[in-house]
Amino acid sequence: MKQPLVIGHRGAMGHETENTLASIQKAIDLGVDMIEIDVFKIKSGEIVVFHDETVDRLTNGPGRIENYNYIDLKKLVVDGGHKIPMLQDVLKLIDNKVALNIELKGDDTADRVNYIINYYIEKNGWSPENFIISSFKWDELTEMRRLNPNVQIAVLTEENPVDAISAAKELNAVAINPYYKRLDLENVNEIREAGLKIYVWIVNEDFDIDAMKRLGVDGIITNYPGRAR
Ligand code: G3P
Ligand code: CA
Repeated sequence: MKQPLVIGHRGAMGHETENTLASIQKAIDLGVDMIEIDVFKIKSGEIVVFHDETVDRLTNGPGRIENYNYIDLKKLVVDGGHKIPMLQDVLKLIDNKVALNIELKGDDTADRVNYIINYYIEKNGWSPENFIISSFKWDELTEMRRLNPNVQIAVLTEENPVDAISAAKELNAVAINPYYKRLDLENVNEIREAGLKIYVWIVNEDFDIDAMKRLGVDGIITNYPGRAR
């Protein structure tokens, strides 16, 4: 059976608070091939690693993350005593050892994310293959492609992934990232015929991980990277 890439979801959020440096370190310790993180651009311009539109669920502060300045954001304490990392903090930690799937969650992220990954590719010698940019916001992906003809793009969808094929082709994407419950042999074959890879999310139970392996997906995004390995 083909062994798909193991992709740690928000680091390894089954073990540590999501999207923190501790979670990312845990994913590395568990031997992932790739780490998935979510990013927003905050008011002062930095790209920060966080999943929700508001900080209320995961921190001791209130309000929309995009309305924060860096100085105030750094004062927030994330569950477990962590800080919200910047994208550069994650890049320094992973140190080109594993690939990184950056999911653009917020608005107007493409320009700054593109600048940062280009810096790491051109100045620090990182491989472009170590970056994949994904989003449910296909307009953000369109902007990323306009800015960068070479970056690897994956189209996220919660619907039947076949419906994302034409957008993926227009974006010259490398992959469609579908919700695992939407995937079957028929649509896997259609995605394959379109020349696209499949990185499926969020697959946590052994039974479902085995099913995805049998379908021959290219990567499994999971909260528990040890199970998929
Ligand atoms: O990238 C796949 C997955 O992370 C999408 O869902 O809500 O965890 O960002 P969510
Ligand atoms: Ca995500």
